[in-house]
Amino acid sequence: MTAGPLSLSAARVLVFDSGVGGLSVGACIRQQMPGVMLTFLADNVGFPYGNQPEATVIARTVGLIGEQLARYPADVVVVACNTASTVALPALRAAISVPVVGVVPAIKPAAQMSVNRRIGVLATPATIRRSYLDDLVEDYASDCLVERIGHAELVLWIEHWTRGHSLPEAELSLALQPFRDAGVDTVVLGCTHYPLILEQLAVLLPEVRFWVDSGEAISRRAAWLLHRAGFSDDMLARPAAFGHHNCVFSGDRPPGIDSFLTGHGCVPGPI
Ligand code: DGL
Repeated sequence: MTAGPLSLSAARVLVFDSGVGGLSVGACIRQQMPGVMLTFLADNVGFPYGNQPEATVIARTVGLIGEQLARYPADVVVVACNTASTVALPALRAAISVPVVGVVPAIKPAAQMSVNRRIGVLATPATIRRSYLDDLVEDYASDCLVERIGHAELVLWIEHWTRGHSLPEAELSLALQPFRDAGVDTVVLGCTHYPLILEQLAVLLPEVRFWVDSGEAISRRAAWLLHRAGFSDDMLARPAAFGHHNCVFSGDRPPGIDSFLTGHGCVPGPI
């Protein structure tokens, strides 16, 4: 049972992440459904989630999303964070009546694309060590060599980069060496922050043919749920009349981030 559209003018999607990774998923949603109004909620107080106990990630995800929905309802919630998706989805679905979309590393599409059957998975250490990644590899890429890099700092570097600092490219290049050694032709970006620096990654690994993230699959699932809630293709595709999306933080807005947010079609703070 669904309640039907909350708004006749635009479908509303709440995109949640521990940081700015939600913006990479938001870019895919905007491309597929320009008529959707997005609110990004970033738990910058709890960031990074990979370092937090599971109970903390669950409590923060469920608590913050619940509070945000009470202030500003949405038709679909997207948990655009691999760490939160692996541990918090059952509790979140039990706590709210809005349909929820989670994210998993895009192992399946990567296995469909790879020509030489050598795949790299780049993620946070928390995602790399979860058994669900082994299950995805076993289910969809059992005939592939899968080289995994769990990078503890990359997510932090990207957060700093969004605030105008440069990426430590030499250090990043060194960290990616296992992918060169393994000769991967496809890389899965298993953290929603990483597509934000796809351009830089592609320069560091020019031999990689396919870069795969979960943004498109999440958008397709969100579109399906919005259709089910009564939004027509026309409503989802119609060019946005509201002009910008909203980005809210659980703590103070990080200094220096405004031009990055503006570049992604957002205004900081509540509408
Ligand atoms: N963007 C989050 C993810 O996809 C970052 C994880 C973290 O905060 O550790 O997992």
